[in-house]
Amino acid sequence: MLPGMDDMPGKVVIVTGAARGIGAKYALAFAAHGCRVVVADVASTDEISEKVGATGAECVSVHADLSSRVDAEAMAAAAIDRWGRVDVLVNNAARYAGLYRGPLEDIPPQEWDDVMAVNVRGVWNATAAVLPPMRAQASGAIVNISSGTVLKGTAGALHYVASKGAVLAMTRAVAREVGGAGIRVNCVTPGLVSNEASREGREAEFAERVAQRTQERSLPREMHEEDLAGAVLFLASDASGFITGQNLNVDGGTVFY
Ligand SMILES: NC(=O)c1ccc[n+]([C@@H]2O[C@H](COP(=O)([O-])OP(=O)(O)OC[C@H]3O[C@@H](n4cnc5c(N)ncnc54)[C@H](O)[C@@H]3O)[C@@H](O)[C@H]2O)c1
Repeated sequence: MLPGMDDMPGKVVIVTGAARGIGAKYALAFAAHGCRVVVADVASTDEISEKVGATGAECVSVHADLSSRVDAEAMAAAAIDRWGRVDVLVNNAARYAGLYRGPLEDIPPQEWDDVMAVNVRGVWNATAAVLPPMRAQASGAIVNISSGTVLKGTAGALHYVASKGAVLAMTRAVAREVGGAGIRVNCVTPGLVSNEASREGREAEFAERVAQRTQERSLPREMHEEDLAGAVLFLASDASGFITGQNLNVDGGTVFY
């Protein structure tokens, strides 16, 4: 267990977009710290719920399209029905893999709307869904997953970058709105992770992209999915109890923000 994480065992944690990728790693990291975990995704969560269960942690699997408020409320209700509380929400689900890359004039309008529906409205929906139980408990921690592309102003994916900019903005505004109820809201901006989602649709140029990002880092190596769990667990735990509305940039020291 990481130092200062003694409060984690027993916490009820919802991880959205947990079916695969970095979300699956968050779910496993919370399980390893004794948490009870809801794995929610629009894709099948059978594999990750089996893996979480294999650690001995209690796990609830929820099929949810977070662009729908009804699904988001059903996700929160699943945690309440099973354990009667929600301590942590990790807003990780997003449209990222395989998105259009190129001039902003040519972004397919439907894809623009889909990205906003999941990456922005989805965060709003999931947040709104967990607020009633968190308010009733007078405690809770929400960790929003934005992207380092917001800090760098990365070109060629305006819909994605705009959506993740909204996530950072919402972190601050929601932190102000719910802080009086004892609820903290923070954000993480990951750099480029060498994973399946980052590769999807960009296989030909991927090695060059990774080499370029690696060279920009103070810690000049590839970034892995596991590099993010510590930051998210910290912001979810009482170790960060007086931190809210903040962003924790995890990019190996590329942007000093
Ligand atoms: N991989 C990177 O380099 C990187 C960098 C910065 C930020 N991020 C962010 O980290 C998070 C995880 O990224 P990843 O690399 O694991 O991507 P990923 O595509 O592997 O995972 C995203 C998950 O979200 C789920 N999802 C998509 N739409 C959904 C919806 N409507 N409702 C519920 N779930 C939905 C997907 O099914 C998938 O399991 C995302 O928010 C992404 O934007 C990733």
